[in-house]
Amino acid sequence: MTVEQFRLLRDHVYSHCGILVHDDMKFVMERRLWPRLEALHLADFGAYHRFLRYDVQRHAELEAAVESLTTHETYFFREPVQLRAFTDELFPLLEKRNGRLKRLRLWSAGCSSGEEAYTLAMLLKESRRFDEWDVEVYGTDISRRVLATARRAEYGPSALRATAPELLERYFVPLPGNRVRVRDDVRAWVSFGHQNLLDEASSQLVARMDVVFCRNVMIYFDQSARRRVLRIIRDRLNPGGYLLLGHSENLLNLGADFELVHLRGDLVYRKPELPGGEGR
Ligand SMILES: C[S@@+](CC[C@H](N)C(=O)[O-])C[C@H]1O[C@@H](n2cnc3c(N)ncnc32)[C@H](O)[C@@H]1O
Repeated sequence: MTVEQFRLLRDHVYSHCGILVHDDMKFVMERRLWPRLEALHLADFGAYHRFLRYDVQRHAELEAAVESLTTHETYFFREPVQLRAFTDELFPLLEKRNGRLKRLRLWSAGCSSGEEAYTLAMLLKESRRFDEWDVEVYGTDISRRVLATARRAEYGPSALRATAPELLERYFVPLPGNRVRVRDDVRAWVSFGHQNLLDEASSQLVARMDVVFCRNVMIYFDQSARRRVLRIIRDRLNPGGYLLLGHSENLLNLGADFELVHLRGDLVYRKPELPGGEGR
């Protein structure tokens, strides 16, 4: 891969999905995209770039390229300190705030294979506060492959490495071969959709949310792509709704219009209320 080919491919991937492949990752990009070149019988990365731009199959191929460049690492009950703050400190606020309508909408943005979305539904069940409520947890991702896994809801030991035995017992059905399936009552609260977080048009189809988890997704983006995603997330949040990021992420220098909320156990972000009321 020449430097010029690397730049062309990198820019193409970046403008599609916000993932920035740094200069020192040229070798990694080359290694990961090489199987695509072979599969398409193309002579070099210049031909591959032209394929991505002009071929009738370009959309599907761009998905395959992005697939090979993204990390889908995730597991149930990831970042337990944050989840505890969420359940102990935000659940009571959400219960109070939405108590009249008894409706709650959560979005796991960049949900990978679904563990995060199911975790949120399990935490809501575990609290018993929302038993009779209309609850929806919506998981979205740019990768159709991980979404297929999410919808199947079957997992192996690695996905369960941080799941307490009593939760395993309550929310999963054992399957042969050391695998489990998420119980139907949890699945009934969770749905999944394909969505590119940089695509404003498709994000308009996402319902208004009370809480958005967008964890370990924007770490692969540059500041400009982060700003675009945050504008979309902010637009989809109800006034007073919360945004939770991964533990290594923050909104510093992004100029995003969120309030920082100091919980005892975590820092979270909130979309400001409309002046003079609840905003709904
Ligand atoms: C490392 S996983 C994080 C999964 C989960 N949120 C967690 O923290 O465990 C990052 C996910 O973000 C998705 N992703 C990357 N760019 C995206 C984009 N532009 N739109 C939607 N999803 C994206 C990837 O496909 C991947 O599944």
